[in-house]
Amino acid sequence: MTQTPPLQSDATSRGGSNPQATGETQPADERAPVRVALLGLGTVGGGLAEILAELRAEITERAEGPVDIVGVAVRDLTRQRDVPVDPTLLTTDAAGLVTRDDVDVVVEVMGGLEPAQTLAASALRAGKAVVTANKAIVARYGGALAAAAAAGRGALYYEAAAAGAIPVVKVVGESLSGNRVDSLMGIVNGTCNFILTQMSASGASFADALAEAQALGYAEADPTSDVGGEDAAYKLILLARLAFDTDVQLADVSCEGIDTVSAADIARARDLGYAVKLLAVAQRRPEGLEARVHPTLVPLAHPLASVQGAFNAVFIEADRSGPLMLYGQGAGRRPTASAVAADLVDAALQLRRGRRDGIAAPGAPRPVPALRRGPAVLPTAEGLSRYYVSLRVADEPGVLAAVASAFASEGVSIASCLQEGRGVDPVDLIFVTHTVRDGDLRAALATIAALPTVRSVASVMRVLA
Ligand SMILES: NC(=O)c1ccc[n+]([C@@H]2O[C@H](COP(=O)([O-])OP(=O)(O)OC[C@H]3O[C@@H](n4cnc5c(N)ncnc54)[C@H](OP(=O)(O)O)[C@@H]3O)[C@@H](O)[C@H]2O)c1
Repeated sequence: MTQTPPLQSDATSRGGSNPQATGETQPADERAPVRVALLGLGTVGGGLAEILAELRAEITERAEGPVDIVGVAVRDLTRQRDVPVDPTLLTTDAAGLVTRDDVDVVVEVMGGLEPAQTLAASALRAGKAVVTANKAIVARYGGALAAAAAAGRGALYYEAAAAGAIPVVKVVGESLSGNRVDSLMGIVNGTCNFILTQMSASGASFADALAEAQALGYAEADPTSDVGGEDAAYKLILLARLAFDTDVQLADVSCEGIDTVSAADIARARDLGYAVKLLAVAQRRPEGLEARVHPTLVPLAHPLASVQGAFNAVFIEADRSGPLMLYGQGAGRRPTASAVAADLVDAALQLRRGRRDGIAAPGAPRPVPALRRGPAVLPTAEGLSRYYVSLRVADEPGVLAAVASAFASEGVSIASCLQEGRGVDPVDLIFVTHTVRDGDLRAALATIAALPTVRSVASVMRVLA
């Protein structure tokens, strides 16, 4: 295997002031390359290899020098791969690759928790920059990765992990630094948004819309993490940590998926003036931070209501900037690889500039907060929201009064109520509440579910005010 020369020798990097020695006067394409170990050559890794080949001149210019892949870890060396990568660079020894002396940056696009987390931590401890698209390891092991980066003076970049091509990590972590963020709401799972859009457009059931999403490649064979809300919770954790300087953990996020949403709920919501969206919400309140993922009735006039199909969007309200919304493709080979490539260029620039200035390692650009400094995350029961509640009840006199009394006993105030179906049993009773404490609503629903005339609590969703 050919080994590219080091970016700079230690002696020249410590000097810092000799432009000849540091290569500043050389044309970018003649400078020593930043050397990249790629962990994974699938959808995203293959897309990155294409970018580095197809945009070589532009990337070299933007990164102030070449960015070269010097090794690629895969599982299966025999697999046919239609990617512009020298096959002799492939290895199954990912652990050996990440600590090689001739590697400056490790790009982790293999996915999963292990060995991805251990490899990323080991590269950070070895002083490498790590670029990852893996929301699961950043969300679950952010503290450990930050500690590894601090110990080894490595740097962690994870733009692609939060919302694919949408540069939201940069915006929340850097561009909004002059603000206090009040709330952040995202449609950050394209699979769920595609399913909900199809259910709304055609009246399809959840199962049929999911099957269509799978046939079109928008949903995994096992869609649990997407439709159950876990994927959106991971992304919320990444963004909430940056926006609120606090260490949100998965257990802190109240998480509901879309698998219980029916086409009837969506049609009813539309009649009431709402679109149903899976929202990841982090909201600052005087008492602490709310962090939750759930299907939500979004007013049709709200910008998030118009986000259709597999697209993503993040809506942020900050005290000085006011509201802003970022919109784009949250997944897919080319969009995701483009965000990884942007982080790679940032990492290469940091390395080159850091070494030119005599700094041995770049330092984390957007640290994952390891300590809880900002507001504590509130328990789910303390959350405040308006709610949509759909009940199946016996078509009998007195039912409405009994339900209203159960709501009232917990202080749940009703904004509107409608009954669907007459002369059939059961009928649907639909309520929209005023803003209420989650714990109070759940207590009222427990009483209501036990009423002899109530067949079932068919659906409960939050309503965006
Ligand atoms: N796909 C997207 O649209 C998207 C969007 C945002 C974020 N992401 C994230 O990007 C990451 C990669 O996703 P992907 O869709 O590119 O995955 P993928 O297509 O399944 O590719 C995974 C690659 O990693 C390699 N790999 C897996 N386990 C390995 C191991 N233990 N040792 C060595 N190599 C291993 C595989 O090798 P073989 O080829 O030999 O099997 C394959 O090349 C994930 O964290 C994902 O969440 C993906």
